[in-house]
Amino acid sequence: MLYIGVDLGTSAVKLLLMDSEGKIQNIVSREYPLYFPHPGWSEQKPEDWYEQTVDGIKELIKDADKSQVAGISFGGQMHGLVILDKDDNVIRPAILWNDGRTYEECDYLNNVIGKEKLSEYTANISFTGFTAPKILWVKNKEPENFAKIEKIMLPKDYIAYKLTGVHCTDVSDASGMLLFDVKNRKWSQEMCDICGIRTSQLAACYESYEAVGKVLPAVADELEIPHDVVVAAGAGDNAAAAVGTGTVGDNMCNISLGTSGTVFISSKNFGVDKYNALHSFAHADGKYHLMGCMLSAASCNKWWMDEIIGTKDYAAEQKAIGKLGENHVYFLPYLMGERSPHNNPNARATFIGMTMDTTRADMTQAVLEGVAFALRDSLEVAKSLGIHLTRTKICGGGAKSPLWKKMIANILNLKVDVIESEEGPALGGAMLAAVACGEYKSVEEIAAKIVKVVDTVEPDPELVAKYDERYAQFKEIYPACKPLYDIITK
Ligand code: XUL
Repeated sequence: MLYIGVDLGTSAVKLLLMDSEGKIQNIVSREYPLYFPHPGWSEQKPEDWYEQTVDGIKELIKDADKSQVAGISFGGQMHGLVILDKDDNVIRPAILWNDGRTYEECDYLNNVIGKEKLSEYTANISFTGFTAPKILWVKNKEPENFAKIEKIMLPKDYIAYKLTGVHCTDVSDASGMLLFDVKNRKWSQEMCDICGIRTSQLAACYESYEAVGKVLPAVADELEIPHDVVVAAGAGDNAAAAVGTGTVGDNMCNISLGTSGTVFISSKNFGVDKYNALHSFAHADGKYHLMGCMLSAASCNKWWMDEIIGTKDYAAEQKAIGKLGENHVYFLPYLMGERSPHNNPNARATFIGMTMDTTRADMTQAVLEGVAFALRDSLEVAKSLGIHLTRTKICGGGAKSPLWKKMIANILNLKVDVIESEEGPALGGAMLAAVACGEYKSVEEIAAKIVKVVDTVEPDPELVAKYDERYAQFKEIYPACKPLYDIITK
């Protein structure tokens, strides 16, 4: 049988076709625009997502035996607010995970309702990217749109709805809404009351590997696939990536170097970060996970290469980088503000430490290292909670760079296991579809059978020591700049 994984990302949708043995048959990608209507705002059109997904699926299965397609599922960019009216039309563009407009609403939730209550109801506090503060923003700033809301959805769930006609979501993605009682895997009535919404406006919540329905006949005909193709709930892109890299069960780690950067730690048991710096979410394997999320990771390198240096040859720029662990230039990667661990939408990207002999390669190196140092910030929080890790998996576009993987291994002092395919969320989506169709008994079973480690990047103790010193310096820069960020963003 064949399974389609849909990774609904921020810059593009990636589609992957997997067979029963886990072999990847084809990968197709389709881009769509990202809108920044004001500094710090970030929006996309759900209609663009669906159009490109359907178009991409047609291309994906063009040469395959379409009668063998059995299931479709997702990894989707998390937290985005999609609102539908009574006729299921999109009311306004989706407000995305890296949008920082909800500063006042977060302040209200964290400081008037209070972090303790939020943490008790949802296991998390409010971050600007989360969904509940966005609902409050629409309520406060666009009351005419708020009045029209019949359904509140997350990005990938809009695609599932268009494919099946079912309003659904899954536990991992629902966790990032700040409307979900993560521990008990159900909607929080208290949070709905706080946001002025009804639970009936939220979608039915499934485990990630559960079937939510079958493709609608008209959709099946358009895609030329059988009418009984199963659509599984899928997962937020980080949980799906964790499935795709075999980060399931207890105390496993995956680092995603995509537009965002995440440190994802799976756990058999529910737990809350007492500092509320790491998110406590339900996992796609039926269990739980902790996660630190930085808002700009591979996107920092993309910005530096495409917009500033003006090159497409990333490898050549990285080749010019000399010694590791000795760079005097630092880069704080806060191009969209920062989530974990600073929770500060006013934070801004910052270069510091240049002298007349600083080269372009030093600056490129600082960008790559800055992202790795910021990932270490989240790892340090996990360590302070008593979580001990010695290795991690890695995925996402940035994971294609051997140099970046080496930096991560040495800056975080972790063995970095490289998987046969770095297509984390799309592969995870296809795997969830295979479980929903009964091809495998559980997410753990399919992960154990098909995910293969093909290489390990080992940290080098000398370089780890050098980078420890650099990290100690890096850590001092944010607190020193913080008051300035508030001044310059006024
Ligand atoms: C996770 C997060 C990002 C997005 C990226 O909390 O906001 O990783 O899911 O698509």
